Amino acid sequence: MTWTKSSTAWPSRRGKAPSRRPCNSGRGDHVTVRKVLANAAILLAGGVDPDAADVGLGERFNPRLDASLLLAKTLGLARHRLLASLSDQVTAADATVFDALLSRRLAGESVAYILGSREFYGRPFLVDHRVLVPRPETELLVALALGFLDSFAAHYGGPLRCHDACTGSGCVGLTIACQRPGLSVSLSDLSAGALAVAAANIRALQADGELLGAVDCLESDLLAAVPGTYCLITANPPYVDSTTTDVIFSGGSVEPRLALDGGADGLRLYGDLAAQAYQRLVAGGALLVEIGEEQGAAVAALFRQAGFRDVGVKQDLADQDRVVIGYKHEAD
Ligand SMILES: C[S@@+](CC[C@H](N)C(=O)[O-])C[C@H]1O[C@@H](n2cnc3c(N)ncnc32)[C@H](O)[C@@H]1O
Repeated sequence: MTWTKSSTAWPSRRGKAPSRRPCNSGRGDHVTVRKVLANAAILLAGGVDPDAADVGLGERFNPRLDASLLLAKTLGLARHRLLASLSDQVTAADATVFDALLSRRLAGESVAYILGSREFYGRPFLVDHRVLVPRPETELLVALALGFLDSFAAHYGGPLRCHDACTGSGCVGLTIACQRPGLSVSLSDLSAGALAVAAANIRALQADGELLGAVDCLESDLLAAVPGTYCLITANPPYVDSTTTDVIFSGGSVEPRLALDGGADGLRLYGDLAAQAYQRLVAGGALLVEIGEEQGAAVAALFRQAGFRDVGVKQDLADQDRVVIGYKHEAD
């Protein structure tokens, strides 16, 4: 299957990256931002012009974008300011710093890990090797959750509580909390390391004034240790089958295996998650989960087995099945 959680993995051609110094600057010659970017993009593309039509780098791999993000970080500029500074000179000191970042990218590390941050739903989220790098397609899960919360709030008299399981960096639950101040949000994950990253994101978003309320984080196998009842439960569990996970790791991925490996068929956690969520939802509440594009029918069946009604499979912008939603009926 085409797998989207591998989007930051380095293409196999990286092994052929040229060995010369990445940026070729800082030798007393005058090297511009434009030249440094062009050289770096070619290096990242394995020594070929990244704009050539037949390079075949894959839809997610963008050497020019990677180079500009790393150089913007080096120069302490926003990316749009970098692109307005193409004729400026790059100093020898900055070239050395940039070379170090570029070398890490050439060795296969994702840009998000090198920068320590990835934008999700318009906000920066801290990331490191303890968490999955947030993917753009996961924004659909957030958008659908917000839509559900708005319609639910219109007729619900109780406190609005939302829980995000398998939270990783916290990008899903914390975005919901930022978008809907006043909502009570909690997060959980099996990984203590991931929860430390989520806690750092809570502090950063609070410091930026994006997150107004407190958010609880707790260690839990799915929802086993999660107390209370909720209007909404979200989760983006690991859903890559183990064989594909092995292939991804042999290709150089350094994301946590716990964040990717969903067992033999990728569906290992969905049945237990649906059963546990059903027990914790108030009447009319909903469970929303992200899925792999070939898992819609299977996950929907697991939702129905757990008691969910009106189960639906939603498509992402690429028209791929991406989210399953189920409701706990009023009468249940
Ligand atoms: C695909 S990542 C999703 C991270 C984040 N929610 C996102 O969308 O970017 C899956 C997360 O589930 C966590 N996880 C794996 N097995 C789990 C389990 N049995 N119970 C709770 N969390 C688990 C992993 O540690 C990882 O952080």
